Amino acid sequence: MCGIVGYVGPKNVSEVLIGGLERLEYRGYDSAGVALMPHSKEDVLIKRCVGRVSALKDALKSVTGDFAQGIAHTRWATHGVPSEVNAHPHKAGRTFLVHNGIIENYLEIKEELQRQGQEFESQTDTEVFAHLIENIRYKLLAGRDFESLSLPEKISNVLESLKIGTQKVEGHYAILVMVAGLEGHLFGVQAGAPLVAGKLTDSLYIGSDLQALLPHLSDMHFLPAKTIFAGQINHLDFYDFDLKKKEIPMSRIDWSPDKIAKGGFDHFMLKEIFEQPSVVADTLSGRLPTEELGFLWDDLEKHKDLWKNVDRLHFVACGTAYYAALTAKYFFEKWARIPVEVDLASEFRYRNPVFTQNTVVGVVSQSGETADTLAALRLALDEKVKTFAVCNVPGSSISREANVNYQTKAGPEIGVASTKAFSTQLAILSALAQDVARMRGTLVNWQNEAESLARVPLLLEQVLTQSKTYLDMGASLERFKTILVVGRGLMYPISLEGALKIKEISYRHAEGYAAGELKHGPIALIDSSTCAIVLNPKDDVSAKTLSNLQEIKARSGWIIGLGVEKHDAFRKECNEYLALPEADWALSPMLYVVPLQLMAYGLAKQLGCDIDKPRNLAKSVTVE
Ligand code: AGP
Ligand code: GLU
Repeated sequence: MCGIVGYVGPKNVSEVLIGGLERLEYRGYDSAGVALMPHSKEDVLIKRCVGRVSALKDALKSVTGDFAQGIAHTRWATHGVPSEVNAHPHKAGRTFLVHNGIIENYLEIKEELQRQGQEFESQTDTEVFAHLIENIRYKLLAGRDFESLSLPEKISNVLESLKIGTQKVEGHYAILVMVAGLEGHLFGVQAGAPLVAGKLTDSLYIGSDLQALLPHLSDMHFLPAKTIFAGQINHLDFYDFDLKKKEIPMSRIDWSPDKIAKGGFDHFMLKEIFEQPSVVADTLSGRLPTEELGFLWDDLEKHKDLWKNVDRLHFVACGTAYYAALTAKYFFEKWARIPVEVDLASEFRYRNPVFTQNTVVGVVSQSGETADTLAALRLALDEKVKTFAVCNVPGSSISREANVNYQTKAGPEIGVASTKAFSTQLAILSALAQDVARMRGTLVNWQNEAESLARVPLLLEQVLTQSKTYLDMGASLERFKTILVVGRGLMYPISLEGALKIKEISYRHAEGYAAGELKHGPIALIDSSTCAIVLNPKDDVSAKTLSNLQEIKARSGWIIGLGVEKHDAFRKECNEYLALPEADWALSPMLYVVPLQLMAYGLAKQLGCDIDKPRNLAKSVTVE
């Protein structure tokens, strides 16, 4: 996740770029930078700062000059710590480049370029891409001087280097490129991460999403994957990866103020579903371990003291937060080898729970004000039990009263049905379980798990590219009387959460079950008026889930399968099949919940329900 902005035109280039970055800062803010090309033949100026866009804005106050164009970036680090040297834009010869996404094979490309004498200053995959493009571009010149080329030859030289470069790199990304000596032109590639382009008679605008362009224009092109573009004032050319020209229709964005508040979505809930990549990135940003240190929690001493000698972990929560805690049970028991109990707060507080000397109680709550969860926390505190909270609202009662608070950074969640808060709870609980396991020495390859976790934002973006399919699938659920959501292992709590989403906003009967539990009663529900949504990533219980699927099929249940692309044994048993990206075990909860959120939304919209404010519900249940 990151924010990319590009501009060519008569306005103050720094102001346009900074304004765009400020509207894209939700996509990550480990560092920010700009590359500014002067009208004169002087060198391109690069300015990069660690931290928020505001730091870069301050640094640019001292910059003078008359600039023709520029590219800019606000970063969410995946390769290389947040630092000035790792900040974008990256430069290689004439090539200036900003990047969103991951170059999977950057190390082998880097080694090859180093063997050819290229030198690198950063730890990023991005710098490798810049050097690769420059290296190809230079070789294509075959000894000719770039300045001596005609304009069409210069443009062709850059386009050819992008074509060859995209053939060499693997991964999901978007890049924006500027070449010194080619004033008035910007180039880029959309290879799985978003890019939007717009032009006016006197200017050109590029951004990671429409928010960056909206203050300047309302007609824009949303670039599909596998697109190369060449842009200049009042002109844009689009190509496929073979440099065959293609047309991309323009979309008109005419948003009302309310629509802008909802980011252009019909409901806050849908906006928040689409914010999940960026808010998971924000929640993990600056916390994931570096080479030298472990995970970087807000108060490391309190964190270490909390988990010292722990011999039992007790989660307590309500609703969606309870399902996040139920998911975390699998993480903590597998990685940290700590026995974990998970309780509904409304039960926990009245059942006189038993605590050992070294029990830790963890409460999970988006609002931090849920009465039952707050009462459960206070019960533990009264018993002198060590407590922690995973909370989203800063300064909330639960976040203040727990001994340690692990803050999720989902931002304000307006939709009553919780979505992005849930994903950030899963992200932080996964990181927490990994770190506790690291401290206890029960997880040898904890760095690999942390690296895997860092990819979730990009994987979520990939899942969201199929959103229309999920929304349409959700609307089609209208014809069923009962909807079951079933899964095993980590997919069990996700099944419960998916069913809750359907109940909450469509008011239709839905139940989540452990797939292995169906035969102990719920299977009596199944007939041709039943739809079963079967969650089945290729994990160690996948074959068992397939058997349970047969039980449903034998009773004429309609089956919608959610699994990976290449799982024919599963796909062929389903009436409808939705493919998700392959991902490591611990990532599947965050990925598989998204289609369920969108299916619930699609059904509720089909039924004309009040999605942001469902009947009988409240965003925070502050009463018992
Ligand atoms: C989730 O969609 C519901 N709105 C509800 O179950 C909610 O998760 C529950 O009330 C807990 O709220 P909290 O996370 O703010 O404590
Ligand atoms: N992988 C690149 C980096 O770590 C880009 C990350 C992003 O999308 O911000 O710098």
